Amino acid sequence: MRTRVGIVGAGPAGLLLSLLLAEHGIDSVIVETRSRAAIEETIRAGVLEHGTVETLRQYGVGDRALAEGARHDGIELRFGGQGHRIDFANLVGRSVWLYPQHEVLKDLIAARLAAGADIRFECGDVALRDVTSDRPVIAFTEADGTAVELECDVVAGCDGSAGISRHTIPDAARTDYFRTYPFGWFGVLVEAPPSAPELIYAHSERGFALVSTRTPTVQRLYFQCDPDEDAAAWSDDRIWAELQARVAGDGFSLAEGPIFQRGVIPMRSYVCEPMRYGRLFLAGDAAHTVPPTGAKGLNLAVADVLVLARALDSYYATGSTALLDSYSDVASRRVWRAQHFSWWMTSMLHTDPAGSAFDVRRQLGELESVTGSTAGSTYLAEAYTGWPVEF
Ligand code: FAD
Ligand code: PHB
Repeated sequence: MRTRVGIVGAGPAGLLLSLLLAEHGIDSVIVETRSRAAIEETIRAGVLEHGTVETLRQYGVGDRALAEGARHDGIELRFGGQGHRIDFANLVGRSVWLYPQHEVLKDLIAARLAAGADIRFECGDVALRDVTSDRPVIAFTEADGTAVELECDVVAGCDGSAGISRHTIPDAARTDYFRTYPFGWFGVLVEAPPSAPELIYAHSERGFALVSTRTPTVQRLYFQCDPDEDAAAWSDDRIWAELQARVAGDGFSLAEGPIFQRGVIPMRSYVCEPMRYGRLFLAGDAAHTVPPTGAKGLNLAVADVLVLARALDSYYATGSTALLDSYSDVASRRVWRAQHFSWWMTSMLHTDPAGSAFDVRRQLGELESVTGSTAGSTYLAEAYTGWPVEF
């Protein structure tokens, strides 16, 4: 088999890349290990930056996000038992959208299949070969066991943080930057009405908590926990008591309801540089991971892919490799800004298990500075709603 761009992974990065390439008349094939149903059911991100929604709209896959998602014009930072609003709309004239990642994926998959795109779900033994030649190959077995060799001009490694693409780059040719945090997030989905009109990021001496939402009847809540916490060991009563204690103050409390999904998420920061090796280009979580506190992961994947699609379009239209050659530098500039923002939000809001009373007071001072100053709030609002994509 042959295609121009072989894409490994049908997550947000891989699916959006195939859509953008099709807009430019560039054919691609997506090779994915999971089933369509599994992809469409996995609960992950919830916050879409202003520019991400604009991109979905521009390419014809934003209708449901705009109709069924909710625009949020700010967030609340909660500390010392009080809420402090960061007003995005007033500070930077932009907003974010609450629309779950798996709904974005449903929209992208439906649009790509309706346009006749070639997406191979449930593949096994995916391997990359000859990525430094001008005919790189994605080798895999189809769901029915048929072995396939897909010859490409270029391979896009969009296979997420547990994928194989980045491991195809020899150790000597890449640098891995890692940071692991000494805590995780205990996440639950609950049947309940929203407790607040906007997301709440809460600092407390018991640790961080996040109040997010999915629909008018389903809420998404998280609280900082030990990274090795056993989610099954917690009763619903204990979960609610912990969440309520972390957001308490000024009469506020969470609307409770049945907990129907739970899990513990590790927190890490990771960057692989360069994001390219020969004719293999990495995009999204395959190249970098951020802790979820800044809500940047999905949005960074979208930004990478916008840069990569433009570089591929330029290559096919003019034969010039200039934009492909600068892809890694251009994309990683944004990645490092987002790494800093995600690390900063995480450090400001979470309790360090090895920290002291000094650290907690210092965090409160920092939160006062951010919420009490237009300059501080504006930086947070700019970063959270998303910087313009630079090409
Ligand atoms: P993925 O979504 O991981 O997709 C990679 C795809 O590749 C998968 O479908 C996988 O099955 C497939 N694959 C893996 N290995 C192979 C292989 N060998 N061969 C073929 N295919 C393979 N981000 C935000 O922006 N906002 C948020 O609010 C937010 N909240 C989050 C909350 C949670 C609980 C989690 C876990 C993440 C959150 N994120 C958030 C991060 C966001 O979900 C990821 O950054 C995003 O999914 C990255 O997209 P991707 O396409 O790069 O990778
Ligand atoms: C979510 O709703 O899952 C969510 C929201 C904001 C974050 C992280 C996750 O920062």
